[in-house]
Amino acid sequence: MGIDPALLERRLDELYVIGAEPDGGAYRPLYGPAWATAVERVERWLKDAGLRTRRDAVGNLWGRAEGTDGGKSIVTGSHIDTVRHGGRLDGALGIVAGLTAVESLLKAKGKPRRTLEVVAICEEEGSRFATNFWGSRAITGTIDSADPEIAAAMRERGLDPARIATAARDDIDTFVELHIEQGAVLESSGTPLAVVSAIVGTAQLEVTVSGQPDHAGTTPMDLRRDALAGAAAMLHAIESIAKSLGKPAVATVGKLAVEPDQINVVPGMVVFTIDLRHSDLGGRRALEERIRSLCTTISQERRLGIAIRTLQEKPPVAMHPDVRALLARAAKECGVQATEMVSGAGHDAQILAARCKVGMLFVPSIGGRSHCPEEATSPKHLELGTRVLTKSLEMLAY
Ligand code: GLV
Ligand code: MN
Ligand code: MN
Repeated sequence: MGIDPALLERRLDELYVIGAEPDGGAYRPLYGPAWATAVERVERWLKDAGLRTRRDAVGNLWGRAEGTDGGKSIVTGSHIDTVRHGGRLDGALGIVAGLTAVESLLKAKGKPRRTLEVVAICEEEGSRFATNFWGSRAITGTIDSADPEIAAAMRERGLDPARIATAARDDIDTFVELHIEQGAVLESSGTPLAVVSAIVGTAQLEVTVSGQPDHAGTTPMDLRRDALAGAAAMLHAIESIAKSLGKPAVATVGKLAVEPDQINVVPGMVVFTIDLRHSDLGGRRALEERIRSLCTTISQERRLGIAIRTLQEKPPVAMHPDVRALLARAAKECGVQATEMVSGAGHDAQILAARCKVGMLFVPSIGGRSHCPEEATSPKHLELGTRVLTKSLEMLAY
């Protein structure tokens, strides 16, 4: 069954303009004005496609086509928020493709047997607040409360933080998400499509290194306790450890703040983050253990204080075997042999897996670029991914 590739591209363009930044990319942080405009736009598309829409307590947007047999829902979608200078496809593709797929199924085949839903998940990236998977965690009923900053942002959007628990769903049977790979594995092997086998485990740490702020001109090198020089040695060690453990271990220091951040003062304090990933829980723990231990040793050698705090920790999550098999069959019916691969990026599917069967499809990212304005996928791969998604939803819901 056909989908309209021009409509798919047009909708992706329309979303990408919302939150466009003057220096490139788009930024749609949770509950901000661009986020709200994007949600409204998708809501209009869902309504035009004949879906019944509603927003839940955290602002996840749902579009529903009631099934004739009732029962639990078949859901597709992705997240509507973006990182800063985000690309055109991360999250947006899963929503636009899901909507386009369901719309074409309804047009061609009428009412589904199983209830079909498209969801625009309010937040996954953690790019505004120190929370990620906010939307999918609300759906799985695992948010205890909103911290005051998030609660204030919710109220500004007319959402009541006291009602978060009402966003929980126990009536989803299967969640299927189409996403870009965000790496170069598919492109470099000339593979047009992958079924995700598992999503890597992640730990995010915050390291505070404390030394002593002193005058940059009068303090001899041997009397300094320079927090930034210590942090630099730690960064170097972190990179070396991840490299020496080998693939698929990765470690990234993406944020660093220096105190007092003055040209003529020896840095007294540095706070930086570490994002650690590995497809195997044991591998991820070994990576973390070695990093913690080496950073501590470096701090001792340099007479610095160190505190390492876990911001969040997520185990690797396997996609459901039945959904993996179904996605592979759908790909075959669309004339492609999909490979299987592990996702190095985090996705809502890994959270939703606690409550329903989940599966994911990947299409190639040109040059492996993502989380940047250059993020792109060829139109033929976007169309292929959407066609396979459509076929999968047809197999699940009709
Ligand atoms: C989300 O994009 C993540 O993998 O951190
Ligand atoms: Mn994403
Ligand atoms: Mn992302």
